[in-house]
Amino acid sequence: MTRRAGSRASTNDLTVPDGSARSPAFEVRGLTRTYGTGDVAVRALRDVSFEVDYGDVVCIMGKSGSGKSTLLRLLGLLDTPTSGMVLLNGIDVTRLRESRRRVLRLGRLGYVFQEYALLPELTAEENVYLPSLMSGCPLRESRLRARQLLAMLDLENRARHRPSELSGGQQQRVAIARAMVNEPAVLFADEPTGNLDTESSEMVMTALSQMNAELGVTILFVSHDPDDRRYAKNLIVLRDGEMVEDAS
Ligand SMILES: Nc1ncnc2c1ncn2[C@@H]1O[C@H](COP(=O)(O)OP(=O)(O)OP(=O)(O)O)[C@@H](O)[C@H]1O
Ligand SMILES: [Mg+2]
Repeated sequence: MTRRAGSRASTNDLTVPDGSARSPAFEVRGLTRTYGTGDVAVRALRDVSFEVDYGDVVCIMGKSGSGKSTLLRLLGLLDTPTSGMVLLNGIDVTRLRESRRRVLRLGRLGYVFQEYALLPELTAEENVYLPSLMSGCPLRESRLRARQLLAMLDLENRARHRPSELSGGQQQRVAIARAMVNEPAVLFADEPTGNLDTESSEMVMTALSQMNAELGVTILFVSHDPDDRRYAKNLIVLRDGEMVEDAS
């Protein structure tokens, strides 16, 4: 990861290559997000620029309110910036129409949130393969992929359980399997261990590391826990919406 944004030629090819392909995975240039206007305007993110290489694992840290979730949401195409760019293969994805962004979100980006967000009436396996079905993959293939991912994460004997029958750490590992089912190029995780005890947190962070090491997915995760740095190859520290040198 580098803080300086390089210039790259534009291309009409929006396919995001997998881990073996050229770097960087994406480039962030002058990203700014202001919520509201006038007296109530909150400058949540201010002129943030960096690059992330394919295969990287980046930890985003900073105090509460420093802009971590705002940054992750912008990179994950869940929000649009006030100004600045997010380039995938040299294309500014913040300017794409919503239908193209939706295709990228479903097919090339994965998400893990603090609250797991599993569908309660579906089994673990069904939760995992649902995004694959939504992408048009046949049921048989989707289910096979879900089973492989659950097995990788030591959850094969929980595949038929509903979320209410699983521990928090197990539910979060199911959420990681779900995020990986469409083989994303980049996985975003906003405080994935925020609701978990130390032991479960370690299992979840190990599961994320495993996805990076074995499947090559690029990972950006937010954490409050300084211990989680050991899972990252690079660190971004935010303070009041700005990227700062690591002070600690
Ligand atoms: N939808 C919104 N409308 C107005 N202000 C917002 C909105 N979302 C976030 N903010 C403000 O933007 C700033 C950054 O918020 P953000 O959620 O990115 O922080 P964070 O670093 O993720 O904090 P935490 O560690 O508590 O999750 C905060 O001051 C927050 O109050
Ligand atoms: Mg947050």
